[in-house]
Amino acid sequence: MGEVVLNPSSRAEQLAQFTLPSKLPNHIAVIMDGNGRWAVSRHLPRAAGHRAGLQAVRNIVSACAHWKIPALTLFAFSSENWGRPAQEVQFLMNLFHKTLIDEIEQLHENNVCLRIIGDHSHFEPSLQKAITYAQELTLDNTGLNLSIAINYGGRADITYAVQQIAEQVHAGQLQVTDISSELITQHLALNTLPEPDLFIRTSGELRLSNFMLWQLAYTELYFCDTMWPDFDDEALFNAICDYATRQRRFGGIENKENVLVEVL
Ligand code: FPP
Repeated sequence: MGEVVLNPSSRAEQLAQFTLPSKLPNHIAVIMDGNGRWAVSRHLPRAAGHRAGLQAVRNIVSACAHWKIPALTLFAFSSENWGRPAQEVQFLMNLFHKTLIDEIEQLHENNVCLRIIGDHSHFEPSLQKAITYAQELTLDNTGLNLSIAINYGGRADITYAVQQIAEQVHAGQLQVTDISSELITQHLALNTLPEPDLFIRTSGELRLSNFMLWQLAYTELYFCDTMWPDFDDEALFNAICDYATRQRRFGGIENKENVLVEVL
């Protein structure tokens, strides 16, 4: 994130080396996996993997902003990650907090609109305050929509949406027949963004791990073996090029002239 402005001209030169395909995703969602294994394979503490992962975050945010990808959503901490050793959880929370405080002004200068999604109600009050400040500061920015999921779970997101709708039905403000897929979408955390076109998960794991379950219904999935700290401009470029080759049919068929002729 800091890197967006640290040396803008040389960064722009680095990114200009890549000739992007004309078909770009509007929204990229990423599970940043492999920080721990990256560190262990270098005989480093897991914390070093998370620090290196943060540098990869800065890099990818800067690339997406430069390449004019409208939205990027990063899964930083799942509701299941509380099961990690308390020291690691505390380290991650401190890292989010410090990063938010240190880098929010630069994000703002770079016209980034930041959202932090997930349940923050049990975070330390100072972290909650930093989140509120960051979101309010960047609310009207028109550049990259950067969303970071912390203590987020896709099922919890859907459950919360359903609870809100049920309350409206209970209060007589809605009929049961008013409940539609669009209405549920409107009550989800990222209701103002288009659904992700491209989902990336690093480190070789082939799972969604409760990330944006509703919104990923028709997303193109891309898995790579690279550990998150090594996920660089070229890795992102490769994922975008792979996406550009996909034929998206959203449940339809590509050639509507080739109709079914045999009647059963
Ligand atoms: C997954 O790797 C990564 C995390 C749970 C934390 C993600 C955090 C960062 C990338 C750094 C800070 C980010 C922000 C947005 C400030 P893992 O620990 O599960 O790795 P492993 O599967 O190899 O153990």
